[in-house]
Amino acid sequence: MALRHHEIAEARNRILDPLTDEKLRLLGEVTLPQHGARVLDLACGKGELLATWARDHGISATGVDISAVFLDAARERAAELGVAGSLHFVRGDAAAYEAEPGGYDLVSCLGATWIGGGLDGTLALMRGALRPGGTLLVGEVYWRGDPSDEACRALDMEPDDYASLAGTNERFEAAGLELVEMVLADGDSFDRYVASQWLAVSDWLRAHPEHPDAADMREFVDHSRTAHLAHGREVLGWGAFVLREASQAL
Ligand SMILES: C[S@@+](CC[C@H](N)C(=O)[O-])C[C@H]1O[C@@H](n2cnc3c(N)ncnc32)[C@H](O)[C@@H]1O
Repeated sequence: MALRHHEIAEARNRILDPLTDEKLRLLGEVTLPQHGARVLDLACGKGELLATWARDHGISATGVDISAVFLDAARERAAELGVAGSLHFVRGDAAAYEAEPGGYDLVSCLGATWIGGGLDGTLALMRGALRPGGTLLVGEVYWRGDPSDEACRALDMEPDDYASLAGTNERFEAAGLELVEMVLADGDSFDRYVASQWLAVSDWLRAHPEHPDAADMREFVDHSRTAHLAHGREVLGWGAFVLREASQAL
């Protein structure tokens, strides 16, 4: 999906993943960043995690994202919550961002593991910026059941792109990481995320019927709705996983 299409579809959302405000708050509680902790959020979107955690936990943070539209929204939100002085937003490819090596207490990437070419590559990117003993937070899709060929085709995914929840944990273990907490999306929160995009696109199509992107947006929303209702609701899960270096476990 082209970035400008993504920006249209996410017009109604502050959180660009299947977590609700409540689940994002819970994620902050279980991750519990220390007051003053330095956080790096790769593909930060509209910066809701950083802005609310700066307000609630006193973090200071850098968010990197490729979308100027999302970063404008992130800066606005930071100002609205009175935390603009604690947050720094950078536009660019998160994979190319030259983070201070070992400079962050917590490094996150929610819903964008393609930035490193998949889960393993993204974890490697994130680890470069993490201080010894720090925390990683990765948001990733998992399979809730074995996806049929038909489901994979409809969702435009390969079976090996993701694993079951237990299989996802095995991927973390194979990377030398220990899963120490998680907050999972559920059917309702997944529906909220996906269905909010249908309305955003419908509104946009009404306002821009002659736009050169109108046909692509119509195709996107039709496909998204069918694929989610027929397959996504059944086979797709999504979680925010809190990880530590396994070698540092006692
Ligand atoms: C599904 S959204 C998740 C956003 C945010 N982490 C959240 O959970 O609300 C994916 C984000 O990745 C960003 N993105 C896509 N490719 C990127 C790249 N190569 N570098 C940085 N950001 C990227 C998009 O602009 C979008 O904000």
